[in-house]
Amino acid sequence: MPKVLTILGTRPEIIKLSPLIPLLVERCNHVLVHSGQHYSYDVDAIFFQELNLPAPHHALGVGSASHGEQTARILARLEPILFSEQPDAVLVQGDTNTTLGGALCASKLGIPVVHLEAGGRSFNRAMPEEQNRIIVDHISALLLAADAIATTNLRNEGLPEASIATIGSTAIDAVLRNREHAQNSTILEQFELREQDYLLLTLHRAENTIPSVLPGMVEALNELAEAYTIVFPVHPRTDAALKQQGLTLSPKLCLSKPLGYLDTLRLIGSATAVLTDSGGLQEEAGVLQTPLLITRNETEWRYLVDAGSAVLIGNRKADMLAGAATWLAPAGLAQLRAHPAPVQAGAAEQAAEAILKLIARA
Ligand code: UD1
Repeated sequence: MPKVLTILGTRPEIIKLSPLIPLLVERCNHVLVHSGQHYSYDVDAIFFQELNLPAPHHALGVGSASHGEQTARILARLEPILFSEQPDAVLVQGDTNTTLGGALCASKLGIPVVHLEAGGRSFNRAMPEEQNRIIVDHISALLLAADAIATTNLRNEGLPEASIATIGSTAIDAVLRNREHAQNSTILEQFELREQDYLLLTLHRAENTIPSVLPGMVEALNELAEAYTIVFPVHPRTDAALKQQGLTLSPKLCLSKPLGYLDTLRLIGSATAVLTDSGGLQEEAGVLQTPLLITRNETEWRYLVDAGSAVLIGNRKADMLAGAATWLAPAGLAQLRAHPAPVQAGAAEQAAEAILKLIARA
């Protein structure tokens, strides 16, 4: 039986791998490794519970550290596991330091790397995630691209056609599998929210939490909180940055700890609009047909902007306020709602088939 080793370590990896892991457990000898990049219950264990995932066979416990240190710990701690497990392929997802460490370690040992969500590009090389994506794509044997845009990016970088498969996005599969279940969430009641009467905000990207950017974003959000009910689950990185930079959020914002997947889906689905810099939330808003304002200057999920269900409003105070004025007005919201994003299911199934084919060929 073919042996596949999957390494994950952060919230988005757990969510986006959740539709694929059960298929691999069924069809091969599957080994799950957790890097420990995320370790707090709110951004880690809760997702294993909610998404019914098996416990990892190996835990690297790398924890928080600088990029170099975190990646180095993954390399050093994963290598002996790869030696002893001898997998036929190593599966990584996305663009985190866990993705990079896992792929690099396997590639150095000559083990074929499968990259789920290959070819996503923001074309902003300053982003740690962009560096991780590019490096991982160039050392992978199988590139599982989410859409035609990602596939074109891979071709433009000269990656071999035979290694690319356009399969769709497993984030979409995850939403479709869990959206009914999410209706049982009581998060709206807990926060005393009414359907279509609030905005959902998330904010955690490295480029948005630096001192040259975050203060302006906070001023814009505090101003928006005068006019809108805004629900803001605060990511640990953002929480730390707010404290370090001495920034105060308006008491009118409805703040919470990071939320579970089902509560988040319920909040996205019932919101007037989503404001976010998260990749996962962008796709989830697309599937749930909620107008999306992206607080960035570029996105890897350009299909949402091209479809017309999402807009980039930037991360500077004036741009954010101008974007909000346009797109949260009734005409703006109507325009976003009139252009739902395309939703293609079945990525996990196609990924499983492509991985088994790769191993059979080898
Ligand atoms: C990482 C990913 C990012 C992904 C995000 C989702 C990289 C380069 N970035 O960013 O692509 O969108 O995860 O959440 O891999 N912390 C905790 N508890 C935890 C984890 C982190 O308190 O369980 C705090 C620590 O103070 C840490 C900070 O959050 O220093 C940042 O964590 P880190 O894993 O470095 O990056 P994320 O911002 O979570």
